[in-house]
Amino acid sequence: MQTHRVTDRDFVRRSLEENRFWLRIMKEHSLFLSEGFNRRDGDLIRTANRFFEEFDRLLRRARELSPLAGPGAIRRFNQEVIRAVRDLRNFKQEVLLRIITCRIAGFNLPLLVDHIRREAEYFITVLTRLNEGIDEPVEAAIARENVFWLRIMADHSRFIRNLLDPSERRLVEAADQFADQFDQLLAQARDLDSMFQGFSPVLVIVGGHLLDQPTLVRLQEEEERDREERETEEPLLVEETPPVLAQFTEDVIGATQEIRDFKRTAARLLADCRTLSVINPLLADHVAREAEKFLEILGQLEQRLGPVREKALVVTQPAPPCPELEPPCGHKGT
Ligand SMILES: [Fe+2]
Ligand SMILES: [Fe+2]
Repeated sequence: MQTHRVTDRDFVRRSLEENRFWLRIMKEHSLFLSEGFNRRDGDLIRTANRFFEEFDRLLRRARELSPLAGPGAIRRFNQEVIRAVRDLRNFKQEVLLRIITCRIAGFNLPLLVDHIRREAEYFITVLTRLNEGIDEPVEAAIARENVFWLRIMADHSRFIRNLLDPSERRLVEAADQFADQFDQLLAQARDLDSMFQGFSPVLVIVGGHLLDQPTLVRLQEEEERDREERETEEPLLVEETPPVLAQFTEDVIGATQEIRDFKRTAARLLADCRTLSVINPLLADHVAREAEKFLEILGQLEQRLGPVREKALVVTQPAPPCPELEPPCGHKGT
């Protein structure tokens, strides 16, 4: 099984990277919330502003922290951040409840508040997994990351669409198309996630047979005993990553690069006042950075896929017709 422990060096590097990215995101969420409240809700505005200050301080500390501080100090910092993000996540949840029960007004769209609550939840999970030192198998990581991020990308398309002035027909149409495209990819990611959960936590193929978890554990124990007797390190279990994951990752990378470019263009147009909208230009930049983060994660997953990745195809032309009386193209036969 490909689950393995994270090394100290990796732990420190990844913790700093994640904190520097997500603490800025959390700080900006606090700002967006504060700006979207009704001016009569002074208590909510003050709470959001306090979170803004707190995440600004944490971000500064994360930027100043040296990798030489060592894993112990970084682990304690991660724990402190987890506590702060939990508080912010709870605040977002409370605000969402008040909005959807019509107890407060303002301009914070309910889906946007739910979206930033999910992002806080994700950040908590990332830091918790890092502190626990466990990396999950690539199949599970692909399914989990895509189910989270593709929904985030579809949401972004809808926020942009709703905050653009209705006169910006061309951009509104482009945002609609992105929303549809990411909805489709999300549905496919959920299907793949469901397929792999059937062989939880990882799909394993031995001699062409798919194994369930109890069988896998039994085989691994047998293999361990056998190896001790044989005094060799060579594993008996053969793992194979299904090529469909490489193809899916390839498709998602293409779509995410396009939406990243669209967001970057929108951010520039907004900053130059060449597009009409009620979008804070910082929000456009914020969502572009999140697309870049997703691309970074996809790049890492693609690397972990290794040789399988080379089998992925970018389909631009229809395949040639199959010769008559032959098995379907690509069918390996029995
Ligand atoms: Fe965000
Ligand atoms: Fe987002």
